[in-house]
Amino acid sequence: MRLPRRALPPPRPHPPLLHLLVLLSFAVPETAAAPPRTSSIVGMAWPTKCTWLPLPTSGMSHSYTLFSKYHKIWKETKEAVSANDVSRQETISGVIALKGSMKYFDADFFNDSKLREMEDGAIEFNVPAFRDNRKLVALENGGLHNPSALVFKSSWNGESKISKRKSLDYPITSSVHRPSKDEDIAFMSIMELGELIRTKQVTSRELTDVFLRRLKRYSPVIKSVITVTDDLAYKQAKEADDLLEQGKYLGLLHGIPYGLKDIIAVPEYKTTWGSKTFENQVLDIEAYVYKRLKSTGAVLVAKLVTGSLAYDDIWFGGRTRNPWNIEEFSTGSSAGPAASTSAGMVPFAIGSETAGSITYPAARCGVTALRPTFGTVARTGVMSISESLDKLGPFCRSAIDCAVVLDEIRGKDAGDPSSREVDIEDPFHVDITQLTVGYLDSAEMEVIESLFVCISLVTYCSFLI
Ligand SMILES: *[C@@H]1O[C@H](CO)[C@@H](O)[C@H](O)[C@H]1NC(C)=O
Repeated sequence: MRLPRRALPPPRPHPPLLHLLVLLSFAVPETAAAPPRTSSIVGMAWPTKCTWLPLPTSGMSHSYTLFSKYHKIWKETKEAVSANDVSRQETISGVIALKGSMKYFDADFFNDSKLREMEDGAIEFNVPAFRDNRKLVALENGGLHNPSALVFKSSWNGESKISKRKSLDYPITSSVHRPSKDEDIAFMSIMELGELIRTKQVTSRELTDVFLRRLKRYSPVIKSVITVTDDLAYKQAKEADDLLEQGKYLGLLHGIPYGLKDIIAVPEYKTTWGSKTFENQVLDIEAYVYKRLKSTGAVLVAKLVTGSLAYDDIWFGGRTRNPWNIEEFSTGSSAGPAASTSAGMVPFAIGSETAGSITYPAARCGVTALRPTFGTVARTGVMSISESLDKLGPFCRSAIDCAVVLDEIRGKDAGDPSSREVDIEDPFHVDITQLTVGYLDSAEMEVIESLFVCISLVTYCSFLI
């Protein structure tokens, strides 16, 4: 959760090492050779027990003798080791340093080989990545000049003015008729379901029934649901139906069922974070994104799987599967929102991403999701992994539905100082023939070819209109 943090106390030097340094600075005459570097002292197993050496009793010459004696021992130790050993010793000193710092993360349980692996990884991957990121940030169009995940600002300068919310100009979805089979209803888009509700061909209660049945029926296989919120769902569905009876229609999400990734808090229901440790946790907080959806008349039907502590697709109830091929897993960590939307267990769901948790499961489960720019959707009441990277976004079955949901959930909230009012360009008024489409050289050609076919078709059709 987003709670105030306590500052860590500054690390202090290790006491025996401190004593040794004091002793050296006391004992070394100005003319003597420089003492070995402190890291070498650690690496070369400089004697840490001093009691067997005669203590200086008087005068500079005596302390010089003492220093020479230390220096001689150090030199002898140094000469006795081969070049290979020296590099091994340096690695050991890195491992010792890493072990020391792990203590401050309350993670001092790694063994030496694991620590060496981390050190190698950091040198090989992290350091070059940090250097590249710094270069990118310094570029004219880099993070210093545009909001970027590489630069963390808790508030956005010059953007404090709250822009007026504009609703998108949705195309009219006319002549939608209620299908006879529930299965066909389950895979309709939000635009179509919204039209069925508005024209009273279906009630929110009926939709809620359809999706609750599917959630219960498929969750034992797909393992994408943590809590079904029946009571709340029927209460919200009734409110939506009553409002419509009074002639009040709140918009496209009015009466539409949906699911939330289980790192998003809803009062009176468990918010488990997918973790065995928090399996029974109830947080009586209304997450900002839940509040927004409630105000649009949407109906919460389920808390969906998050990989444990928002990592991967493994949670305390098992591992979430890909509905298109249940031999595969969904990937994570928004495993539940992706798999449940894909299987028609919800018309849409809200997930989150720190690094890949929206894009990976959406790609694997074949749904359309949207990972918004950092700060677009306030994260109040949502478990935090990285304050400067976490983003909330919709999982749907089409790009239009993603636009509809994002338009309703975007916004700034006092509980999340990184959030902002971000205007989104109305996607229904973009001339897509003027867009430039980019792809990576490493992308699969089959996908690129399909993309080109789509673009040619759309361009052709737009000429016909
Ligand atoms: C060190 O820990 C890792 C797991 O973190 C384990 O796989 C490995 O076997 C351990 N190595 C030794 C030497 O105990």
